[in-house]
Amino acid sequence: MLTHLCTTILCVIHVLPVINHAKGKEGTDQEMAQYRERIKSMFYHAYNSYLENAFPYDELRPLTCDGQDTWGSFSLTLIDALDTLLILGNHTEFQRVASLLQDTVDFDIDVNASVFETNIRVVGGLLSAHLLSKRAGMEVEPGWPCSGPLLRMAEEAARKLLPEYSDNGESV
Ligand SMILES: *[C@@H]1O[C@H](CO)[C@@H](O)[C@H](O)[C@H]1NC(C)=O
Ligand SMILES: *[C@@H]1O[C@H](CO)[C@@H](O)[C@H](O)[C@H]1NC(C)=O
Repeated sequence: MLTHLCTTILCVIHVLPVINHAKGKEGTDQEMAQYRERIKSMFYHAYNSYLENAFPYDELRPLTCDGQDTWGSFSLTLIDALDTLLILGNHTEFQRVASLLQDTVDFDIDVNASVFETNIRVVGGLLSAHLLSKRAGMEVEPGWPCSGPLLRMAEEAARKLLPEYSDNGESV
């Protein structure tokens, strides 16, 4: 059965620091390696299932095994997964996805989007991916980290949210 993708990715984010903290107390190197492998396989189970069944939609629906747009229409899960790919050491996939997103994601569309989710996952995800792109072996523009394609995407998404923060903006 497919695990809910977001839960798994959030789990990776939250479980890693706990395991690091445990190191030196009880965990042997062998145990640590086992945890690491387990987290990696959980991530790839969710990640590959999303790519196979749900991309380019925002999220995977685990029971019907298809995709749907939930918080906008920005391939949210893929943007969300970028920094995790780098943390897990997968530079080639990071590079492939960073280029793919530049070609496929369009913020100039008429959809209802969640301001909160777009802020933390789309703007935040693109900013972190932009900053990590050099470490992932991508060629960066002169002027990086103050310029770059992922930074421009983050800025475009953020600009769409600005009316929400004006005096007469309605809460979404
Ligand atoms: C990176 O991710 C892709 C897609 O899941 C996978 O095919 C590839 O084997 C991974 N590479 C490494 C080094 O883990
Ligand atoms: C967004 O949601 C509002 C309120 O439910 C609805 O009136 C509007 O048609 C929706 N817009 C789009 C583009 O889906």
